[in-house]
Amino acid sequence: MTIEIKNLNKTFKTHEKEVFALRDVDLTIETKDFVCLLGPSGCGKTTLLRLIGGLEEGDSGEILDDGKPIVEPSNERGFVFQQYSLFPWLTVLDNVTFGLDLKNGSKEENIKRAKTYLRSVGLENTEKLYPHELSGGMKQRVAIIRSLVNKPKTLLMDEPFSALDIQNRHKLQEQLVRIWQKTEKTIIFVTHDVDEAVFLADHIVLMGKNPGHIKEVYNNKLPRPRNRNSKEFLAIQNHTMELLES
Ligand SMILES: Nc1ncnc2c1ncn2[C@@H]1O[C@H](COP(=O)(O)OP(=O)(O)OP(=O)(O)O)[C@@H](O)[C@H]1O
Ligand SMILES: [Mg+2]
Repeated sequence: MTIEIKNLNKTFKTHEKEVFALRDVDLTIETKDFVCLLGPSGCGKTTLLRLIGGLEEGDSGEILDDGKPIVEPSNERGFVFQQYSLFPWLTVLDNVTFGLDLKNGSKEENIKRAKTYLRSVGLENTEKLYPHELSGGMKQRVAIIRSLVNKPKTLLMDEPFSALDIQNRHKLQEQLVRIWQKTEKTIIFVTHDVDEAVFLADHIVLMGKNPGHIKEVYNNKLPRPRNRNSKEFLAIQNHTMELLES
């Protein structure tokens, strides 16, 4: 499933001014790519992700998914947001099966599937808990599982780990890479953290602002598993930082 973005423009009109959120964006994302959208606050990362997700409409240009225009949200694309977006009144298990039940699968099958996924990220003992009883890292893992259980082809993630402490953040990054390798999904991951982008992505889309635009796409060929302390890692991190600031 190739996602092609061609000459995409997006402005927001507020009562007093127009904001050019995205100007002339061209980008191709191949199936099974791990792509990070990296750039400073306000450069249009979330806007671009929402457009790819079909949650927002561009002013001009197009976004194609295997040649078909993206015009609305689809089960083929799962979303994980920055803020915890679990339903507070549902247990972990019910949060995960919620989308499956909407699709009318058998309740038993749905529960079985949800449990398998929860086990895969070490959350088997949290099924009966409510979101407020979980740590931030656990909540985000549930949010990821809730998306994955619907078997989307593409996972769209908007700074999902930014509220976590550094240890948890690193742990979830490693887990996400393992999930990506095992399930062969396309992942488009928004971050403003250079270290996170270099650790995760094969392709780093460097963005700039005023108006939001793509500066460059950097192919990160560091072998996996990646070691943050290696000379090569630090060199790419520095190089990415320079590109971002230039
Ligand atoms: N619904 C909206 N109405 C008006 N302006 C908006 C809206 N959404 C985004 N913008 C503006 O569009 C620009 C890009 O916003 P966006 O949220 O995509 O940036 P971002 O790169 O995700 O930033 P951050 O890293 O802070 O999340 C900003 O100038 C923002 O103020
Ligand atoms: Mg954002």
